[in-house]
Amino acid sequence: MAEIGQDIQQAKALLEAGELVAIPTETVYGLAANGLNAKAAAKIFEAKNRPSFDPLICHTNSMEKVESFTTNIPNKAYALAEKFWPGPMTMLLDRAPIVPDLTVSGLGRVGVRIPDHELTLSLLEQLDFPLAAPSANPFGYISPTTAAHVNDQLGGKINYIIDGGHSEVGIESTIIGFENDEAIIYRLGGLSVEEIEDVIGPVKINAHSSSNPAAPGMLKSHYAPSCPVILGEELKAMAQQYAGKKVGVLGFDYGLENIPAEDQFVLSVRGDLNEAATRLFMGLRYLDGQNLDLIITTLVPDEGLGRGINDRLKRSAAKG
Ligand code: TXA
Ligand code: MG
Repeated sequence: MAEIGQDIQQAKALLEAGELVAIPTETVYGLAANGLNAKAAAKIFEAKNRPSFDPLICHTNSMEKVESFTTNIPNKAYALAEKFWPGPMTMLLDRAPIVPDLTVSGLGRVGVRIPDHELTLSLLEQLDFPLAAPSANPFGYISPTTAAHVNDQLGGKINYIIDGGHSEVGIESTIIGFENDEAIIYRLGGLSVEEIEDVIGPVKINAHSSSNPAAPGMLKSHYAPSCPVILGEELKAMAQQYAGKKVGVLGFDYGLENIPAEDQFVLSVRGDLNEAATRLFMGLRYLDGQNLDLIITTLVPDEGLGRGINDRLKRSAAKG
C-alpha cells in the first residue's frame, strides 16, 4: 500500500524523479506525474489501465506558468481564468511544443487547470513543470474523493498519496474549449454553466456524445460500480418492481420502507445540489460495498451542479 501523509517535500522529490503521486483537489483526487515528461506521464496510463487515446489534464498554479506551455490563449479564457481559477474548471488551450504527444494523446490542445486545494497549490508552486493528473481511479470506475479511496484501488501502484481530506466539490471539473471565439463545454462538472455564462455570455454544450473527438475520455459508460445502476422516474415504484432483489437506493431521503436503512444513501437531506455533488461518488462507492443486486436512483433537476450530477448518473447507469 502507498504511504499517506502531508509531506509536500517528499511528494516533490518523487515527482521530480519522474514517479507518481496522488494529489488532493477540490473536485476529486488526481494521479499525478510530470506532464512535460513522456516517460513519467506513461506511468499514469499504465497504473490506471487507461487507453492512450484519453488525454490528461495539466495542473499548475499560475497564469504565467499556463502561458509557458500553451499558445494563442483567447480573451474569453483570460476572463474565465481571472474569475474561476483556482477552481473546478479545465480549459482546452493550444499546446506549446514542450507538451509531449503522450500527455495530450496527440491532440493539438492541452487541458489546463489551476485546482483549488491548499496542499496541492503549495506543491505546484514549488514545481517547475505542470502535473498531468487524471482522476486517481482505475479506468471506468468511480472517481476518488478521499485518500483512502485512492489507496484502496491504486495503493499498490503508487508510492505516496497526499492526504488533503474530503474533496469539497465532489465531481470533476467542467471542461471548456474555444472554437472561432465560441466557447463550448465538453464536460459538465463542478462549475455550473450558469456561472460561466454570467462571465462570457451564452455557451454551447457538447457533452453528450460518447464518440466526441474533442473529449475522447467522455465514454458513455463510466463511474460504474460492480452492480447495475438503474435510472428511473420514481424510487417507490422502482423498489416495488425489483422486490425480491437486494436493492440499494441513491436518493434524497430514507423514505423507502422495505429497504434497510443501510442500503439507502442520502445525497442531501436538504435537497441541496452542491451537497449532493460532494456526496455522489462517496454514495456510489458506499452502496457498491453493500453486496447489492442493483442500485436504483433518479435524475436531479438539470440546473447548477445538477447537470454534472445527472451526467455522472447517466454514465454510471450506461452499459458498454
Ligand atoms: O476535476 C478534474 O478535472 C480531475 C482532477 C484530478 O483535476 N481530473 C479529471 O481527469 O477528471 P480525467 O482524466 O479523469 O478526465 C479528464 C478528461 C479526459 O477524459 C478527456 O475527455 C478530457 O478531460 N481532456 C483532457 N485533455 C483533453 C484535451 N487535450 N482535449 C480534449 N479533451 C481532453
Ligand atoms: Mg476520470
